[in-house]
Amino acid sequence: MAAVVLVGAQWGDEGKGKVTDFLAEKADLVVRYQGGNNAGHTVVVGDQEFRLHLIPSGILYPGRFCLLGSGVVIDPEVLIGELDSLSKRDIDTSGLRISQRAHVIFPYHRRLDQLDEERKGNSKIGTTCRGIGPAYIDKSARIGIRMIDLIDREELAVKLERNLREKNSILENIYGEKKIDFEEMLALYSSYGERLERYVADTSLIINDALSAGKNVLFEGAQGTLLDLDHGTYPFVASSHPTAGAACLGAGIGPAKIGRVIGVTKAYSTRVGEGPYPTELAGELCECIRRQGCEYGTTTGRPRRCGWFDGVAVRYAVRINGLDYLAVTKLDVLSGLEKIMLCTGYRYRGEIINEFPASLKVLSECEPIYEEHPGWAEDISTARCFEDLPVNARRYLERISAVAGAPTALISVGSKRSQTIVMTELF
Ligand code: IMP
Repeated sequence: MAAVVLVGAQWGDEGKGKVTDFLAEKADLVVRYQGGNNAGHTVVVGDQEFRLHLIPSGILYPGRFCLLGSGVVIDPEVLIGELDSLSKRDIDTSGLRISQRAHVIFPYHRRLDQLDEERKGNSKIGTTCRGIGPAYIDKSARIGIRMIDLIDREELAVKLERNLREKNSILENIYGEKKIDFEEMLALYSSYGERLERYVADTSLIINDALSAGKNVLFEGAQGTLLDLDHGTYPFVASSHPTAGAACLGAGIGPAKIGRVIGVTKAYSTRVGEGPYPTELAGELCECIRRQGCEYGTTTGRPRRCGWFDGVAVRYAVRINGLDYLAVTKLDVLSGLEKIMLCTGYRYRGEIINEFPASLKVLSECEPIYEEHPGWAEDISTARCFEDLPVNARRYLERISAVAGAPTALISVGSKRSQTIVMTELF
C-alpha cells in the first residue's frame, strides 16, 4: 500500500499538475481532496497541452481512476465542459468518480463572489471569482447542496428553493441585482444531475478499498500551503485547506494510511491575488521571470507576481505538512540569470525572524535576508540526472533543500514528462 500526498509548498501554481501527471503513471487512483475550479493545472503530453481545473491530471492515463473527494466543491457546468473537451480529444473519462458528499457550486455563488470582491474594493482578496468561497460558506452554514442532492430532483428542489429565497433576498436587497429564477435553475441543475449521476459514488469507500488491496493512491492538493485557511496568509487565502492534513478529511481516510508527503515548490516563487509577499520582485527582473516561466494564471489569465525562492515560507510548509520530500519545479526558468537570490530568513525591525509570522502587519514589514548564488548559462532542459546539471544549479538546489529542511526527490526542468529528474522513487 502506498498513499502519497502531493501539496503546494508556496502560494499555489507550483507545477503540481506536471508532478501529478508524472507520478500518476504509477498510481492506480488519483484523488483531489479540496478546492474547486479555482485551480488550474497545465499538463503537456507529447505535443498536446491540457488545461484542467477540476479533473485530476491522472485522467490523461488510460484506465486511471480519478476521484473528486468530499472536500472538493464542484461546479457541474465546468465539470461537464471539462469532460466534453477531454472526450473530444479522445481521452477516456470513464474512470472519474465524484463524492456523493462533495458540495455543488451554483451561479449565485459565482455572482456573490464577484459582488463581494467589488464591495471590498482595495481590501479585496483577489479571488478567482469562481464561487468557491461562497460555496464553502454554505457548507459551513449547513445549507449547502451536495452531489447526492443534485442527482435527486426532489431533494434538489426543496434545498434549492430554500437557498434561493435567501440568496435572492441578498442579491435584490443588498446588491440591487436581478432575482434568479427557481424553475430555470432547477431545470438546469437537474439536467446536470442526470448527466453526472453515473460518476457519483462513495469515493471514501473506493479509496479505502484500494489502499487495503495494496494499490497506489496519489492525493493531489490544489493551491498551496500559504493559501491554507488556517495556516496561510489569512485573510488572503483560499477557503479550503490545501495542506496535507486535509487529504484525510477531504478524501475520507485515516491519517495512519498516509505514507509520504511531497511538497511541490518552484525554484523561485510566484503569487496571484493580493497579500504580502516578502521576496516579490519588481521591474525588469520580475518581467523576465514572468516571461521565461509563462507566469500567467491558468484559471484567470492574470499575470502572476514573481519573486525569489523564500526559504522561510517553504520551511514553514515543510513543518505544517510534515513534508518528507520536495519536488522542485521550473529550475530551467532561472537559466541565464547572472545571479540568483535565495531568502534564508527575514529581518523585522532589526531582528532576525526564522519562522513564518502569523501577523500580516509583521510579514508586510519583513525584509528578506538573501544568500547570493551564481547562476548558470547552460540550457538545462535536456538534463535527465542530477549530474547533468551545471555545478551552480546543483549547489543552488542543495541550498534549497538545506534551508527548507527536506530532501529533494524530483526536479523538473521543463513542462514535458521526460523533463524530470528523479532523485528518489516515490511509489
Ligand atoms: P478563491 O479560491 O477563488 O476564493 O481565491 C482565494 C485566493 O486563492 C486568491 O488569492 C486566489 O488568487 C488564490 N487562488 C485560488 N486558486 C488558486 C490556484 O490554483 N493557484 C494560485 N492561487 C489560487
